[in-house]
Amino acid sequence: MKLLAGNSNPVLSQDVASHLDVPLCRAQVKRFADNEVWVTIDENVRGEDVFVLQSTSYPANDNLMELLICIDALKRASAKRITAVMPYFGYARQDRKTGGRTPISAKLVANLITRAGADRVLTMDLHSGQIQGFFDIPTDNLLAAPILGQNIKENYDNPSDLLIVSPDVGGVVRALQLASRLNADLAIIDKRRSGPGKSEVANIIGDVNGRRCILFDDLIDGGGTLCNAAQALIDGGATEVSAYVTHGVLSGAAVERVQASVLKELVMTDSIDVRERTEGWAKIRYVTCAPLIGEAIRRIANEESVSKLFD
Ligand code: R5P
Repeated sequence: MKLLAGNSNPVLSQDVASHLDVPLCRAQVKRFADNEVWVTIDENVRGEDVFVLQSTSYPANDNLMELLICIDALKRASAKRITAVMPYFGYARQDRKTGGRTPISAKLVANLITRAGADRVLTMDLHSGQIQGFFDIPTDNLLAAPILGQNIKENYDNPSDLLIVSPDVGGVVRALQLASRLNADLAIIDKRRSGPGKSEVANIIGDVNGRRCILFDDLIDGGGTLCNAAQALIDGGATEVSAYVTHGVLSGAAVERVQASVLKELVMTDSIDVRERTEGWAKIRYVTCAPLIGEAIRRIANEESVSKLFD
């Protein structure tokens, strides 16, 4: 197999390569003066099984174009099979029409990746599971719950006494995956959106009084969802609230917002490279997803079961 990395997350790409003990493919993924993406692959990939590592995170459009152009370069260089490995699949929240004359951008992005020439997709904790069906090629959607659950076991006493909380109704299945791994109870926040990027807590479904809570979400963007949910839980009598999320999008003042919130800590995977922006902020720590992504790649390359990873 060969691993080709775009520029979205060089540290994770290198960690995945080290896990697989395979060097990253020699290639240049650069920009022309006007910011057009320019790719050249500096080694033979004819007949190879190639995995392109690239999250479509901020800057989402640039990183998406890099991915598409890398796939095109590989296709024209006669790679045998191309897998788009997107630890974070951006545009996923636009997975349905939210009103008249609105796009379904997640479907458009899936079409672009397929049309560029990808044969498979490997991703993690898609915002909604049905996005898998937007791709007409095999798509593996890895779960972060096992690695995050393991981290909870290592950092929290009596994990089965914790209360896992979904910060909105859409995240219940995901939160249940974590709760059942820990043998813990589940509560749900009834979140209402008052406008783009604005949310408030309408109700808490479940008894949180006297409980240690862990919010679990697929992503944190501006931070409103998790910080508001944490405050509502504390107001409802929770003794402490932490948050575990798969993708740290962390737009705008999210880091400062988390630091100023009642959250005890925010734990994220490294699917998105935000280390520079979070360095020195005491409440934020990481769990690497490199071994999980690496193992999934190894299994795909060897035609082994990927779902076995989550038994
Ligand atoms: C929404 O359905 C998502 O799962 C996240 O809860 C949301 O996108 C987080 O956004 P923010 O951090 O800006 O509230």
